[in-house]
Amino acid sequence: MKILTFGQTGQLAKSIKRTQPKAVKLIQLNHQQLDVTQPNQIYAALELHKPDIIINCAAFTHVDNAEKLPEQAININSVAVEHMAKAADFFDIKLIQLSSDYVFDGHKNAPYTVTDLPNPINAYGRSKQLAENTILDYHTSSFTLVRTSWLYHHSGHNFVTSMLNLMLKTNVQHAAGARPDNPIKVVNDQMGSPTMVDDLAHFLWQLCSQPKWSAIYHWSDAGTCTWYEFAQEIKTQGIALGLLAHPIHIQSIMSEQYPSSVKRPKYSVLDTHLSQSIASSKPWQQQLSLCLKQFQHEQKLNTKV
Ligand SMILES: NC(=O)c1ccc[n+]([C@@H]2O[C@H](COP(=O)([O-])OP(=O)(O)OC[C@H]3O[C@@H](n4cnc5c(N)ncnc54)[C@H](OP(=O)(O)O)[C@@H]3O)[C@@H](O)[C@H]2O)c1
Repeated sequence: MKILTFGQTGQLAKSIKRTQPKAVKLIQLNHQQLDVTQPNQIYAALELHKPDIIINCAAFTHVDNAEKLPEQAININSVAVEHMAKAADFFDIKLIQLSSDYVFDGHKNAPYTVTDLPNPINAYGRSKQLAENTILDYHTSSFTLVRTSWLYHHSGHNFVTSMLNLMLKTNVQHAAGARPDNPIKVVNDQMGSPTMVDDLAHFLWQLCSQPKWSAIYHWSDAGTCTWYEFAQEIKTQGIALGLLAHPIHIQSIMSEQYPSSVKRPKYSVLDTHLSQSIASSKPWQQQLSLCLKQFQHEQKLNTKV
């Protein structure tokens, strides 16, 4: 099986590489090698590599910037997916498009199912929904959507690494006898499900080997929390591991107190029942623990160098 991914430097594409099964031939193209907004580049790549499946990992993912640059977000997240779908259809190649919990408005208080209707409340969500419509309009089991939420890894820029870096900075201030900066403020009125990116990649590999696809899948790690509860768990586990040494003050705030004008869904938990027949989600706290251990391991390696 030959798989082609776009957006090689992104969090998910890197994870797909790390978790690649031996039997699979994986071709990954970065933004410079292939700009997904350029249809001629997509056609040329498909003709050259002749993949069985495309996993589109390229995206405009900065939620705040999407509000400032909505046309750019639509171009990368949606218009590019139209080009991709057309080209994949032409060459008879299967296509997995990644989507987001942010296509929902967050007004529900039970997990969003694959039949719930999207109603995005921000520019990023709208750009992802447009791509979803393109994929669904083909009515083919050769194309599928995988919605996911709150991706993180022990490296790169994401919520877990941002929190750890803030907490480690606070620890350094404590150790130097200085008063730490203000408390770390984290919103406590948005609920979702964290997802370790390697778990999503494993799911995608399983999906690739399925003979037939449904139109939409939801994938996240198991369980739910708010961003504040997520931060608290990072702190608790970090202290238990010896990664963090001093108490850290995390303050619970409401979305309105967070310095961003972009609306985010208050509740974006995904119902992953359909996906559980393909792979089993593990509790997010357990997967966070693996991630923190890897973070600690890399820290030790870096201090040795
Ligand atoms: N991160 C999350 O929490 C989250 C949650 C739900 C769903 N998702 C979805 O999951 C997918 C993967 O997300 P991710 O976190 O891995 O994203 P990411 O880390 O932001 O990576 C996005 C990648 O897309 C590339 N890219 C941007 N514009 C491009 C273009 N015009 N042509 C080619 N490549 C381009 C970027 O390359 P450059 O940096 O070089 O431009 C980068 O490699 C996305 O569809 C995202 O919407 C993510």
